[in-house]
Amino acid sequence: MTFRIAQISDTHLSGEKSFFVGNFECVARTAIAARPDLVINTGDISLDGANNPSDLSEAARLHRIFDLPVRSVPGNHDVGDSPEIPNSKESPINAARREAFVSIFGNDWWSLDVPGWRLIALNAQLFGSGLSAEADQLSFIEQTVAEADQRKIALFIHKPLFDESDSEDVLGGRFLPPASRRQLWGAFGGRRPALIASGHVHQYRSIESDCGRCVWAPSTAYFIPDSRQPRYGLKQVGFVMHELQESGGHQSRFVQAAGAADFNIADFPNAYAKH
Ligand SMILES: [Fe+2]
Ligand SMILES: [Fe+2]
Repeated sequence: MTFRIAQISDTHLSGEKSFFVGNFECVARTAIAARPDLVINTGDISLDGANNPSDLSEAARLHRIFDLPVRSVPGNHDVGDSPEIPNSKESPINAARREAFVSIFGNDWWSLDVPGWRLIALNAQLFGSGLSAEADQLSFIEQTVAEADQRKIALFIHKPLFDESDSEDVLGGRFLPPASRRQLWGAFGGRRPALIASGHVHQYRSIESDCGRCVWAPSTAYFIPDSRQPRYGLKQVGFVMHELQESGGHQSRFVQAAGAADFNIADFPNAYAKH
């Protein structure tokens, strides 16, 4: 048995600033036609839900296009970013922002068992937040990892944990802060995921790291130009199809969506001044 997951990410949806709704609908139609068992949105679901809760409700409404099970985790644009990032221009996560997300999309961390695998999905921005939910999420990770037994673990989280290696110690907005990563691995105990699926960078990449395979989903909305962001992988709009085999094998591939335009965020100055 093979369980297929369409991972969409960084949909950046809004009713007032609907620049990226057309691309989302193209990606959604392509994903629906592929008949996956599950769709997971790995965050930045909304354009600016952290400051405009109406972006969250509109994004949720647009996701009704899927006649498939859909799950999600929040990104920095949905609930605010980790407060520990130096010189961040983004709003920090707080209890109200998190609760606005949870009230619309359901809990911001969850797990799901599929044949041979345990999917674990987390709120990346909660680490280091000091919110009471941060400790609750850590307890959840400890328990769900300890009870995974022989199942392989696939982790879904908005931010990549690092660029190429778990030994990196760079604090910035692009990857999970190193202190957060240490908290995460502390809760994992000696185990590590076989697959780490993330979004946030708006590029597709798949590498084998010292902590398992790391797959970055592209944005369904837009890419960030080389003048603002290094090129790690593929700067193209689309989604990722993961195939998890009951035996523990797995494959992930980039899927292009018919009709979707490779938008450059630099051409949308009214969306964000900077990402
Ligand atoms: Fe994003
Ligand atoms: Fe993000």
